[in-house]
Amino acid sequence: MSRVPMLIGNWKMNKTLQEARDFAQRLGQQSMHLKPGCEYAICAPYTSLHLLRVMLPAQVQLGAQNVYHEVSGAYTGEISAPMLVDFGTKFVLAGHSERRAIFGESNEMIARKVSTIMKAGMTPILCVGETIAEREAGQTEHVVKEQVLSGLANLESGEVETLVIAYEPVWAIGTGKTASVDDAGQVIGWIRQILVDQFSSSVANHVRILYGGSVKADNIASFVGHPEIDGGLVGGASLEADSFVGMAKAIE
Ligand code: G3P
Repeated sequence: MSRVPMLIGNWKMNKTLQEARDFAQRLGQQSMHLKPGCEYAICAPYTSLHLLRVMLPAQVQLGAQNVYHEVSGAYTGEISAPMLVDFGTKFVLAGHSERRAIFGESNEMIARKVSTIMKAGMTPILCVGETIAEREAGQTEHVVKEQVLSGLANLESGEVETLVIAYEPVWAIGTGKTASVDDAGQVIGWIRQILVDQFSSSVANHVRILYGGSVKADNIASFVGHPEIDGGLVGGASLEADSFVGMAKAIE
């Protein structure tokens, strides 16, 4: 089955309000290049969400980079799913490797986030991927399988097919060194097979699985051209509107 391709930008901890305004204005001037057959989103810091909701072209959805699993309470510094829904947020990253490595998020914490995002009516993007040490130890399939299965643990079977998964080998993030298309396609094929085994072929065929890790305009077409890969989750190359448009143009 053909799945709608996705181009998702992850701005990480970047952009003042003025820089976000400049991005949205520049992207708006080139919105004719955003294809109706593709889904776009910018996962921005919380501080930019309202401005982007007002200024981004209608084709570009709003995303967030994290959420707390409780809906309210004494959790200093955290943001809840209802707060993100208020901004019109459609996608929320869960389990990005930087959240796992820097902020110590466990598979169990991430599973609670995935379920909270889904129950709030937003779409979780479950991020999985191995470190270079795990890859060199031949542990990639084991690590990714554990992250996928634990990330889905709190979902009802009917919820899984609306999930998005992003395979981001940690060693390819921010390094300029991507995985090979074949390697990325192989791991994403393993992820899809996990979904077949755990749920069904129908569920597995509905789930969009993205690649992330040094994606940019001159390589995204080769990834999205692979039958298993449904799009890109992009960090650095999503920070400039012209680069975002360059990737949008490259996706057939
Ligand atoms: O979430 C996407 C990000 O981790 C990839 O970063 O800069 O390698 O595209 P980058």
